[in-house]
Amino acid sequence: MLETAAIFEQIVRSRRSMRVYDNKTEYNPEIVKKSLELALLSPNSSNMQLWEFYRIRSEAAKKEMAHNCLDQSAVETASEIVVIVARPDKYKESIQFNLETIDHPENFESDKSKKRRKEYFGKIMPLFYAYDRFFILSILKTVFVFFVGMKRPIVREVTRINKKVTIHKSVALAAQTFMLALKSQGFDSCPIEGFDSKRIKKQLSLPRRAEINMVISVGKGTEKGIFYIQRRYPYQEVVFEK
Ligand SMILES: Cc1cc2nc3c(=O)[nH]c(=O)nc-3n(C[C@H](O)[C@H](O)[C@H](O)COP(=O)(O)O)c2cc1C
Repeated sequence: MLETAAIFEQIVRSRRSMRVYDNKTEYNPEIVKKSLELALLSPNSSNMQLWEFYRIRSEAAKKEMAHNCLDQSAVETASEIVVIVARPDKYKESIQFNLETIDHPENFESDKSKKRRKEYFGKIMPLFYAYDRFFILSILKTVFVFFVGMKRPIVREVTRINKKVTIHKSVALAAQTFMLALKSQGFDSCPIEGFDSKRIKKQLSLPRRAEINMVISVGKGTEKGIFYIQRRYPYQEVVFEK
């Protein structure tokens, strides 16, 4: 086995959701910074990066956040709390970022690929990410893909709800990279979705269309912080070969 594979396996196997942290041992906030830097390298749909990360570090803000996370011990005892936010409303900036990347002097892409991707970011992405308050665009797009799909394979997930899933999938991948990076540096975490999103958005002064993807508490783990055994479905029950 490669040395890197053994290290990776050890990181994955030792990560557990931590519900009680030891806040007596010294905590180094630089580890969270490093882990977030690595999280930013996560794969994400069309490189749109519709994510933001809010570090909650002051005692008062942590207390308020713990209450907004339903007073869970995983948050109450954390050294730091990171709120992972999806920003569907920032899609125009992301499209611009990607168009600029295509023209970046260091971009080694072929001219043919550049042309194709400029069309993709210039035409398809604005249509997919457009704000669709009354679901009208979603219906039009669904009808369109239904007819095109009779002739050739096409992406079927084009509605407003599908867009939410697309964005949150990518954001959650960043969350996972973040948690594994923390573990690789000897820190523990707990992903949280038991929270009041409205109150968290208010606490962070986020706009209406921002969405809370996950809250992740961070700290040095304790033995009593692991509440139960880790049990998963066996491989043969969930992995299929065709
Ligand atoms: C999206 C998501 C939301 C979660 N929300 C909570 C939560 O609100 N509170 C909590 O204690 N654990 C939460 N968990 C942790 C899971 O309960 C935990 O990952 C699962 O039981 C497996 O345990 P393990 O992480 O130790 O392997 C969440 C996990 C995920 C991925």
